[in-house]
Amino acid sequence: MAIERSAAKRPNWSSGFAFIMATLGSAVGLGNIWRFPYIMGQNGGAVFLLMYIVLSVFICSIPLLCELLLGKQMRRGVIRSYEKINRKFSAFGWLCFITSIFIPCFYFVVGGWTVNYIFIYLLGTIPVDQINTATFETFAAQPIAPLIMGIIFLVLCAAFPFRGVNKGIEQANNIIMPMFIIMLLFLAITGLFLPNSIEGLKFMFAPDFTKFNFTTVLTALGQALFTMSVGMGCLVTYGSYLKKDSDIIQSSGLLILGNTIIAVLAGVMIFPAVFSFNLEPSAGAGLVFITLPKVFAALPFGQFFGLIFFVLLFFAALTSGISLLEVSIAAILEKFKISRKIATVIMSSIILVFMVPTTWSFGLLNGYKLLGKTFFEIMDFTASNVLLPLNTIILCVVVGWILKPKMELLTKNEKFYSVFMFLLKFIVPPVLVLLMLFGLDVL
Ligand code: PHE
Repeated sequence: MAIERSAAKRPNWSSGFAFIMATLGSAVGLGNIWRFPYIMGQNGGAVFLLMYIVLSVFICSIPLLCELLLGKQMRRGVIRSYEKINRKFSAFGWLCFITSIFIPCFYFVVGGWTVNYIFIYLLGTIPVDQINTATFETFAAQPIAPLIMGIIFLVLCAAFPFRGVNKGIEQANNIIMPMFIIMLLFLAITGLFLPNSIEGLKFMFAPDFTKFNFTTVLTALGQALFTMSVGMGCLVTYGSYLKKDSDIIQSSGLLILGNTIIAVLAGVMIFPAVFSFNLEPSAGAGLVFITLPKVFAALPFGQFFGLIFFVLLFFAALTSGISLLEVSIAAILEKFKISRKIATVIMSSIILVFMVPTTWSFGLLNGYKLLGKTFFEIMDFTASNVLLPLNTIILCVVVGWILKPKMELLTKNEKFYSVFMFLLKFIVPPVLVLLMLFGLDVL
């Protein structure tokens, strides 16, 4: 594996399709399936959707392209990429590295829950009509079972980067993503045939302008960054495996389009079903792990639909988990000149240690809170609301003002390049600073 440590022998995606599947796999995750639908519902449905699309295209696309450009130009992981610009910027790379440890610590716990639900629906250990709130709460509060499920999820994620970029990451995404899309279409279409499904669609698509305010705009922007995997060097790492002549504008367009369509489809899969059975379109983790099992309980072939849904959720989380791990693996592999296999084992072990307190946040450590937040909530909040936006601002400033990426790596069109650079230098950083300060309730 020594070859991987030199930029010249760096692995390359074997096709444009492989790259799109890998970036889409990273982007499409828990963020799309449960977070997007419910946030959209709470923030005025169609109005939010419109904001989200406008912001994705005009604001988030800039740091997204920026990450890909940095990776493509430097052909290094996130730490070495920053170091190559200037040794003094090493800390910025390390900040991304730390973020790539923070996110898996809570993300993989939820990944473990999906594994548990797959077992329940596959083996029928609990009759479908008895899977309820208590099922979720008793499971999550146990000390050992959720930890074991989390470890299973971690090992499954790690197995792919362990095998390498082409044989592992690329193959996983090439196979899993098309399967994911077929399953999503199947469930979304089935949902449309349920009685009263139109109410669910109204909830999603009928604009409610009374809910439109500044917070909505910021929420839409925050959601767009997280779901597009911008802000921790994921796309720097994946971009570093691109060939020099690959068209990143086209890929980014497809990525934004694909990610948005999938998020909307996830809503179409969930809300008609929730409304059809008169359930509350309530928030967050509860919607997926508590409300949806009630839908499956009431459906004919509920066990089958439940199984498909949780396998789909698992696939989404798995391909994102792979990309989360690859950031830190690629970073330390080249920084400390170790093999890919050793790097994978080291990073998985570090993440495992931190996963223990996040898992126990729902049981043993539930009473231990800092500023009213459990360890799980602290990791989630710090990563999503502090580290991701902070890293994105630093990225835009460093790449826009200092690196000034080569035009030919982005486009042949001079006008496009100058608009891109203008947005990158003058518009995106202040908008992101505002987002962050408002998000943190500083303003
Ligand atoms: N985009 C992923 C999701 O929507 C989460 C993620 C964030 C993955 C940052 C990688 C980097 O679930």
